[in-house]
Amino acid sequence: MGLLAFWCLLPMLSSLCLAAATGWAPEPDQPFRVPDGWGHMGRVAASEMLSLTFALRQQNVGPLEELVQRVSSPDASEYGRFLSLAEVQALVAPSSLTLGTVRKWLKAHGIRDCRGVSTMDFLQCLVVVETAERLLPGAQFHRYVNGKRSIVRSPLPYTLSKELADHVDFVGGLHRFPAKRKVVSRAWTTGKLQQRSALASFHLGVTPAVIRKRYNLTDGDVGASPNSSQACAQFLEQYFHQADLNEFMHLFGGGFPHRSRVDQVVGHQGQGRAGLEASLDVEYLMSTGANISTWVFSNAGRHESQEPFLEWLLLLSNMSALPWVHTVSYGDDEDSLSRVYMERVNTEFMKAAARGISILFASGDSGAGCRTVPGGKHTFQPSFPASSPYVTTVGGTSFQHPFLVSEEVTDYISGGGFSNVFPMPDYQVAAVKHFLNTAPKLPPPAYFNRTGRAYPDVAALSDNYWVVTNRIPIPWVSGTSASTPVVGGIIALVNDRRFQRGLPPLGFLNPALYRLHEKGNNTALYDVTQGCHLSCLDATVEGQGFCAAPSWDPVTGWGTPNFPELLPALLG
Ligand SMILES: *[C@@H]1O[C@H](CO)[C@@H](O)[C@H](O)[C@H]1NC(C)=O
Ligand SMILES: *[C@@H]1O[C@H](CO)[C@@H](O)[C@H](O)[C@H]1NC(C)=O
Ligand SMILES: *[C@@H]1O[C@H](CO)[C@@H](O)[C@H](O)[C@H]1NC(C)=O
Ligand SMILES: *[C@@H]1O[C@H](CO)[C@@H](O)[C@H](O)[C@H]1NC(C)=O
Ligand SMILES: *[C@@H]1O[C@H](CO)[C@@H](O)[C@H](O)[C@H]1NC(C)=O
Repeated sequence: MGLLAFWCLLPMLSSLCLAAATGWAPEPDQPFRVPDGWGHMGRVAASEMLSLTFALRQQNVGPLEELVQRVSSPDASEYGRFLSLAEVQALVAPSSLTLGTVRKWLKAHGIRDCRGVSTMDFLQCLVVVETAERLLPGAQFHRYVNGKRSIVRSPLPYTLSKELADHVDFVGGLHRFPAKRKVVSRAWTTGKLQQRSALASFHLGVTPAVIRKRYNLTDGDVGASPNSSQACAQFLEQYFHQADLNEFMHLFGGGFPHRSRVDQVVGHQGQGRAGLEASLDVEYLMSTGANISTWVFSNAGRHESQEPFLEWLLLLSNMSALPWVHTVSYGDDEDSLSRVYMERVNTEFMKAAARGISILFASGDSGAGCRTVPGGKHTFQPSFPASSPYVTTVGGTSFQHPFLVSEEVTDYISGGGFSNVFPMPDYQVAAVKHFLNTAPKLPPPAYFNRTGRAYPDVAALSDNYWVVTNRIPIPWVSGTSASTPVVGGIIALVNDRRFQRGLPPLGFLNPALYRLHEKGNNTALYDVTQGCHLSCLDATVEGQGFCAAPSWDPVTGWGTPNFPELLPALLG
């Protein structure tokens, strides 16, 4: 309400002041920031079509959360008793009052072209701009372009009538810009080529063979169950090319049985040039999760007003058969998103967890991050969904000797830290407390929130990869976008062995991962203990965030997968 009162001081926004009197702002804390690279093209014509996504209030979110805990905790009697999509719908579908109220409201505005999802908690409607601006008082639709991309967003906050306050969480497609996550290609300058003595281990960049060797995958460690499946998701008009995957496997896929084709592309796969990121995800997911059926979710959004990430969540709620493992290299700063939006996305992850689906997110490539808070001081800047307690977040490492398959140390870019939104979940309390109590040096308390969900959970190599994109092998590719599919494929392999034994998939992984150490297992994940990641370049922290330490740490989590030990630990 404070925000609305402020806007009312501006005379040209009098229509919003009117709305403020009768309306309600679902996302008062959603900032509107035009990211670098986007140009403003003015207001869109009243007759243009938009696609708006209504997130309807769900029922039983508390019981859903409790259920996820029971089905994901190896010690619980209900471990692995996952729900079908229909059962998730029966639990969370909005009440008939909510459905009726929202339908009546849309109908009163002449909006009829709507599509729902199986769980009934989202509605996506095609709406004429003029109607949308009446439906959502305060909103005003403008076009923004970035190269060939064009999107429609409202720089002004929207309101909803007060009768909807119990029935709608938020409306998607107004403020959030597509997140950017760039994989980087960076060159080494250290020149440690004298390490050649261990010639067998010498390599000129990370390839599937290097990854498989480091994580102790034998040539027999490939998928064999027809039930196995895995997926990666792309949101940024990033396309993979089947021909690149063929070429990649031709160049680098020697020695282990693997597939060279993606089985299913869900969503819109455009004709453009292949993206480095899209190529990276699929090429490495299929190198650790070798011989496993692979899907690509490709979602640039067909309408200029769609939010590609939200589109992916809708797909998850509308498909009864989904791959068991999803890896996503995407993230926003927590402080660029409204609280209701993040909480709702978190609930969507719980819905997936209830179904036995494992979701892995990249932890980000900016270390602890940095932002300036009012008063000019700095704090770290957590990333979402990396900070969601219902996903497994993957950080990054590098080899200690850049050209040897050697010990792993922190990759200084590895995203990590503490959420300012989500409290610390029970499964990690002991591990994080141990870190906070034993770390020789912590950043000043004002820089991070020690009560928040801490991430990442695990890590893998994120440095110096080879990727084939647009038929060309590219070296030096780096980022947690690389480590995430590597871990995803390994989890898909563990699922494969579980299926062969008639066991259910792993589902939401974190309770099982954090429990390994409690059970005395410290070889399933290789503990990375050296190096620090980056943060604010100021006199107080001098560019340093957190540092890796024995056991869990907010830089590399528990460490990197050691397949022969991880597999039996997760088969039990
Ligand atoms: C969900 O799936 C149904 C059935 O396939 C389809 O009719 C509907 O349009 C889908 N919803 C969305 C939002 O795409
Ligand atoms: C690859 O997976 C299929 C099942 O999807 C299986 O029948 C086949 O034996 C596997 N190949 C190898 C080499 O394990
Ligand atoms: C710290 O995190 C908690 C959630 O764990 C949150 O409620 C609180 O607002 C956060 N504090 C700040 C200053 O962001
Ligand atoms: C594998 O898939 C088949 C066919 O869909 C199904 O009957 C079987 O129960 C599945 N096995 C496991 C372990 O999920
Ligand atoms: C793979 O096995 C070797 C030999 O046991 C071990 O030194 C190495 O740490 C293992 N890799 C990982 C990631 O744990």
